[in-house]
Amino acid sequence: MTTPFFQTRLGLGTWPMGEDAHSEAEEVSAIASAIQMGYQLIDTAEMYGSGQAENLIGKALKNFGNSARDDLQIVSKVLPSNASTKGTITACERSIKRMGCEYLDCYLLHWQGSYPYEATLEGFIKLQERGLIRSYGISNFDAPDVNDWLVAERNVGSPYQTVCNQVYYALNARGIEYNLIPLLQEKGMAFMAYSPLGAGALMRNPKLIALAKEAGLTPAQVALAWVLRQPHAVAIPKTVHPERLRENLSAANLVLDDALLKALDQIFAPPIQKKPLMVI
Ligand SMILES: NC(=O)c1ccc[n+]([C@@H]2O[C@H](COP(=O)([O-])OP(=O)(O)OC[C@H]3O[C@@H](n4cnc5c(N)ncnc54)[C@H](OP(=O)(O)O)[C@@H]3O)[C@@H](O)[C@H]2O)c1
Repeated sequence: MTTPFFQTRLGLGTWPMGEDAHSEAEEVSAIASAIQMGYQLIDTAEMYGSGQAENLIGKALKNFGNSARDDLQIVSKVLPSNASTKGTITACERSIKRMGCEYLDCYLLHWQGSYPYEATLEGFIKLQERGLIRSYGISNFDAPDVNDWLVAERNVGSPYQTVCNQVYYALNARGIEYNLIPLLQEKGMAFMAYSPLGAGALMRNPKLIALAKEAGLTPAQVALAWVLRQPHAVAIPKTVHPERLRENLSAANLVLDDALLKALDQIFAPPIQKKPLMVI
């Protein structure tokens, strides 16, 4: 199953990389290992480590030639406080400079702030016209916000399309199944599931650990394959450990059987009513 725009369904998250200078060597090495073992998508943001996560990606990319860049999709995000038209453009230019990557494959508004959506969209459009981004999207937008954003996109007459919404989605955060995932599917947008391991908490869930063991899988493989059972989903788990990078990547090719999916539903119930969007 492919998703609109994204060439792969499992990428690498980079938060909270770049926050502790002592971890720099390990984090650069993790990003480089991920690229080497076949990750084709990296998610970052100007916010992560105040730009330092993007610097780490830049350092990791230096190990590879231009051919590696061509095989990689890089997603970054503009802070709402920078999301005026001019601010969006300059923030993107700074991100590209930090990573030395010439362009971003997708540029997201990290969450809603005080600038009108039209202002941010004008920035995105100018960036895409200049070839500095290949697409744009949003993050932490619930269903009504997605609709408002799409109205703004029509108002500015964008020649492009919003390709994705990056939101929290994991076994322990299923609320978006109620009406956001169906809306994104209807609009032809991908959704990028952040914190697909519940920011690590799911890895300590005894019931998930037991079910995974019974299935001959790891809890991470079950949690990620479960996210990816959704058409149009992309998962972006973060790890700095090479063995976990490999383990997480392997989940992209796993299909969970009906019995396991039912057992997961019993532990992590699907939503039966609208819930507020969960945000980390
Ligand atoms: N748009 C947004 O507002 C937003 C918000 C939050 C996150 N994000 C993005 O989503 C990415 C992922 O989210 P996240 O980092 O919050 O949570 P996550 O990927 O669900 O979980 C990461 C945690 O799980 C651990 N882990 C990873 N693989 C594991 C494995 N195979 N076995 C056991 N533990 C494992 C990691 O530790 P180790 O590193 O020690 O392995 C880390 O503590 C972020 O890095 C960021 O790029 C976006």
